[in-house]
Amino acid sequence: MKLLERIEELDTPEAIPTVELPIAQMYHGSRLAPKGVTRIHHFFLPRTLQGLGVLWTKAQAISDPRLRAFMLFTFEQTIWGMSLLNRYQPIQFGRVGGSQVNRYLAGVYYISSLISEVSPWYILTGKVKRLTAAFGQMHYQPGATVIATQSASVVPPVENCADYIFTDPPFGENIYYADLNYLVESWHNVRTNSAPEAIIDQAKHKDLYAYQALMWQAFSSYYRWLKPGHWLTVEFHNSHNAVWNAIQEALSSAGFVVADVRTLDKQQSSYRQVTADSAAKQDLVISAYKPLAAFEQRFIAEGGSLNGAWDFIQQHLEQLPAPTMRAGVIEKQDERQAYLLYDRMVAFHIRHSLAVPLSAPEFYQGLRQRFSEADGMYFTPAQAGDYHKRRQQAQRVEQLALFVTDEKSALQWMHRELDTETGHGPQTYQDIQPRFLRELHQTKYEKLPELLELLDQNFLKDAADRWYVPDPERQADLDALRQKSLLHEFNDYLRGKGRLKVFRSEAIRAGFSYAWRERDYETIVKVAERLPESLLQEDQQLLMYYHNATLRFSDQPKQLPMI
Ligand SMILES: C[S@@+](CC[C@H](N)C(=O)[O-])C[C@H]1O[C@@H](n2cnc3c(N)ncnc32)[C@H](O)[C@@H]1O
Repeated sequence: MKLLERIEELDTPEAIPTVELPIAQMYHGSRLAPKGVTRIHHFFLPRTLQGLGVLWTKAQAISDPRLRAFMLFTFEQTIWGMSLLNRYQPIQFGRVGGSQVNRYLAGVYYISSLISEVSPWYILTGKVKRLTAAFGQMHYQPGATVIATQSASVVPPVENCADYIFTDPPFGENIYYADLNYLVESWHNVRTNSAPEAIIDQAKHKDLYAYQALMWQAFSSYYRWLKPGHWLTVEFHNSHNAVWNAIQEALSSAGFVVADVRTLDKQQSSYRQVTADSAAKQDLVISAYKPLAAFEQRFIAEGGSLNGAWDFIQQHLEQLPAPTMRAGVIEKQDERQAYLLYDRMVAFHIRHSLAVPLSAPEFYQGLRQRFSEADGMYFTPAQAGDYHKRRQQAQRVEQLALFVTDEKSALQWMHRELDTETGHGPQTYQDIQPRFLRELHQTKYEKLPELLELLDQNFLKDAADRWYVPDPERQADLDALRQKSLLHEFNDYLRGKGRLKVFRSEAIRAGFSYAWRERDYETIVKVAERLPESLLQEDQQLLMYYHNATLRFSDQPKQLPMI
């Protein structure tokens, strides 16, 4: 106790940073101040401060720059674990004492009521061994790597120079990286410029829109770095659907075309495809490409003509990799399905401020005429031959999981179910109804028509009262009729005022698509503003129409990242 008292009387070593924390602008600031932590050195007990002061001074005094950098880096490994943030690890399940190394709660500044004070060598002995191995000659080649720490949104000095970009951006809320950096950065007397930090942070007045704008800035910069025709991979760990949509919206408005979305199973390190509309509740990997310059110029010159639309589909299909086959099973490629190709074609026009030259039924009909269909996927004539060969070697094609939440996904499910190859084939109402109800997880806003009505509007019935998928010609007629009925419903919404609480989201999509073709941006904005905000943020297509229409209609558009 006497020794501790003597230590407490010593001055704080000069090497120790004492800089004040910007408590008011820190998400966790209100948790720290009441515990007496308002400056960096408050994170440490007096005895720790003396120890760290000596080590830091010694490491800084090393004259060889490379060795000095290594020693400072090694020192950094002690900072969090020797602070008050280190929680005491109690005896667990009969084991005597757990390790006390780095027991702080990751991603937050949290001081527990029982802390654990450890010495530098307690933390460092194991680490030094691992660091020596990691930086040993076998793994480390000086000069082979460049590390830069500027914001991802800086303009590249040379454009079109990168072959590939992999990015692991923040996922909205949750982790306040710049704030968390203070503790280590203060030792180096530097500080992250948190202005371009792409997070949602109330303390810094950054909401979802601000996050989307910052992500857009970063993606726009990536777009400039990347060579045309090359790929960007975005790793995305889910937080909310709204954030997932913000990322997709930012990606597309920066000019990228999304070509594949998969879930990453971290335990098995494998990838699985997901439907674009399904909730992003897992780790996702998005692959997007920058279109070839020649195509883009052609597309703009075509100015929203039919040629431009089919040219887009041709190049998009060419960019998409062939469906993969593993152990005799072909994985069905979501992106090659008609409805997603339509969505991508529409989105590409809207990004380029062009009217969409085809309605959905016209598009589906044209697609069947121009491209080859197999297993519900479309291919260019050149790709179709290869797929056919592969298909002959495969035992089966794996279906994607489909979440039936609204009319759009319900129709996809019904098509699949009534198809002989992908489902149980033609069925009576009594057969399909129990299966349908099992799959249905309707959202609360969705005014889903009765199953019988959906069957009636979209399928045909044979002599045995079994519903079946119509042939392409009849399908086009039915699609056109359905479109009419959706627009009719949309017109009903237009007549009303006030919030729309329950509605057919397909009718809203059809109405927005029609209004966009008519350049009637006002209708889109007015109807969108009557929808529940959460729905708007979570529905990628509605969000896209709304954002783009806002820019063209409103005098004071919301702060939105747009081309
Ligand atoms: C999900 S983390 C990446 C984690 C990393 N892959 C790893 O394994 O350690 C996201 C990172 O993006 C950084 N970040 C946030 N905004 C940024 C911006 N505008 N430019 C560059 N980096 C940014 C954050 O500081 C954080 O380190």
